[in-house]
Amino acid sequence: MSEDVLKKEKKPIIFSAIQPSGTITLGNYLGALKNWVSLQDSHDCIFAIADLHAITVRQEPAQFRRNIIEAYALLLACGIDTKKTLFFIQSHVHTHAELAWILNCYTQFGELSRMTQFKDKSQRHTDNVNVGLFAYPCLMAADILLYQADLVPVGADQKQHLELARDVAERFNGVYGNTFKLPDGYYPPVGARIMSLQDPTRKMSKSDENANSWVAVLDKPEDIMRKFKRAVTDSEAVVKYGENKLGVNNLMGIYSSVTGKSGEEIEREFEGKGYGDFKTAVAEAVIEELRPIRERYERFIADKAYLEEQYTKCAEIALKISARTLDKAMKKIGFIKGKH
Ligand code: TYM
Repeated sequence: MSEDVLKKEKKPIIFSAIQPSGTITLGNYLGALKNWVSLQDSHDCIFAIADLHAITVRQEPAQFRRNIIEAYALLLACGIDTKKTLFFIQSHVHTHAELAWILNCYTQFGELSRMTQFKDKSQRHTDNVNVGLFAYPCLMAADILLYQADLVPVGADQKQHLELARDVAERFNGVYGNTFKLPDGYYPPVGARIMSLQDPTRKMSKSDENANSWVAVLDKPEDIMRKFKRAVTDSEAVVKYGENKLGVNNLMGIYSSVTGKSGEEIEREFEGKGYGDFKTAVAEAVIEELRPIRERYERFIADKAYLEEQYTKCAEIALKISARTLDKAMKKIGFIKGKH
């Protein structure tokens, strides 16, 4: 995508990002990535690997480096197309960290203290409750606001962060006049919250110690089958949505998100059948959805020169676009423009 495309065509602008966590899960895929891929024709999309966010927890350098490049290759394999979309690595575009600092100064301590993800993570990593973990939503707000994004496709767990980005933007605009577009969240109708296969009261997350609770996009077919077969359900043996059927609801959501079938269609399909058949069908649908991604991934990850060419080219354009917003915000605050 060239820099001018964003100016000429005036499609709504989308921004989203994902952390290079080492394992991209089915939750990430159904909650966010699948949407990203399908929005590329109708919108001007900008996506990033959020490596700056990832250092809010300690990273081992060699592994971190691998995780970043693997996440980049995996997203290309999912269908992110750099001919249509800007897709870069966050730390390559220095405006993100700069605007994040500025937004820190327009965000209240109390607001960030209320973020449930901060409360959760600081309880889980008591040995490293760092300031970055606390200020994380300001960096996320900077990511979004730099590109004047209209929409932000994310899973439901990011809703609170997105609302904070809007609040901060609105506050800044209130003080200095219109500077940032107020972004809206874009959540998939099904799949916005994929739950753990072992404890369906919790979201599917690779930080869960029990590896059977999550499916990775790159998991082998036999592992995917095994994890679904062990998924927690209930003793009712009826495939239908229900208040006390969190495990089944989750599997139905996954199946619906992958196949496009409605809840009613799924209920009809499995009428009179047990959970064994149902779990096998869900696993098979997921395996088929992920198979071509795994195959394409092997090709991308083997071609480091191609990956470098793509992320370098995209970062250059992203820098130009985002610098316009950063300059505008800095000028309004009263900074003197330097020569750089
Ligand atoms: P991250 O890396 O934790 O997750 C990436 C995306 O996957 C979604 N997701 C899920 N969706 C449904 N069910 C689940 N179990 C599930 N787990 C994860 C997340 O909602 C997210 O959309 N802070 C962000 C990354 C980020 C960002 C941004 C996002 C950085 N800057 C700017 C949007 C805009 C994060 O840690 O996502």
